[in-house]
Amino acid sequence: MTRTRHLLDLDGADRSTIERFVARAAEFKRGVPSAARLLHGRIVVGMFFEASTRTALSFAAAAFRLGAHWLDFKTESSSLGKGESLADTMRTVRAIGADAVVVRHSESGFAHALAPHFGGSIINAGDGCHAHPTQGLLDAFTLQEEFATLDGRRLTISGDIKHSRVARSSARASSLLGAHVTLCAPPSLLPRDRPAWGFAAASSDLDAELPSSDALMLLRVQKERIDAAGSPPSSDLASGFGLDARRYALLPAHAIIMHPGPVNRGVEIAQAFVTDPRSRIERQVENGTFTRMAVLEACIGGPS
Ligand code: CP
Repeated sequence: MTRTRHLLDLDGADRSTIERFVARAAEFKRGVPSAARLLHGRIVVGMFFEASTRTALSFAAAAFRLGAHWLDFKTESSSLGKGESLADTMRTVRAIGADAVVVRHSESGFAHALAPHFGGSIINAGDGCHAHPTQGLLDAFTLQEEFATLDGRRLTISGDIKHSRVARSSARASSLLGAHVTLCAPPSLLPRDRPAWGFAAASSDLDAELPSSDALMLLRVQKERIDAAGSPPSSDLASGFGLDARRYALLPAHAIIMHPGPVNRGVEIAQAFVTDPRSRIERQVENGTFTRMAVLEACIGGPS
């Protein structure tokens, strides 16, 4: 795996970069005999200023499987509360011996802002509405596992696109692998530029997109961000851009259902489809650990 210093977003990534991460994640999933020695003695710090289940635990599991130590930085009880600056905090974390910091924050650009203050690797675990690169990679891995190649496949991402860091990173990774990505939302919750973000199409008619979709990814209705922003009510978003039985019937028989989680059952996806045979929601979570192993190895593997 080619070494990289930080993983902050996928904006500058090319197809071969995504392919390498996905291929290495697939190798870890099949089993790499020496995996537990690859990061022996390395220290990875989880710095989660925002809630997480999947990302935090799967990074910790990934570190464990590679032989690294995972330390939780307790954001609320840290010395940040005593007035220590972030820059000094990052220098302190490095002096303690951390090789990598995995960071999540509600502010877009937070991971980028940390990078100059840390001598090791910064890995973005989600920053505001901006990016969630490891989610993008694990979604691309899950799609490739399903379809062998994404060339010519159609991925529809539906819901609150505007506030979704997942939409941006998943659309980016999948489109780089050859998928045609359509972002589906009301006009007020779509990216302003067309084509969306420069690499996806946009639509406000989910029903029209479903019959040609190979994969449908629902997004959590981010009630806290939508209602506060004066956008259409979150209940409208669920009914207009969620998955129910009628829309399920519009999907081709081979199409799969995805969701980055956490799922609000009965809101953006009807209860019955969360564990439907065509749902890959748990597979996405499972693939998250292998993908994050590939990312940690790329950032802090090899000679230090
Ligand atoms: N998909 C995702 O980021 O989930 P968590 O918020 O649980 O980490």
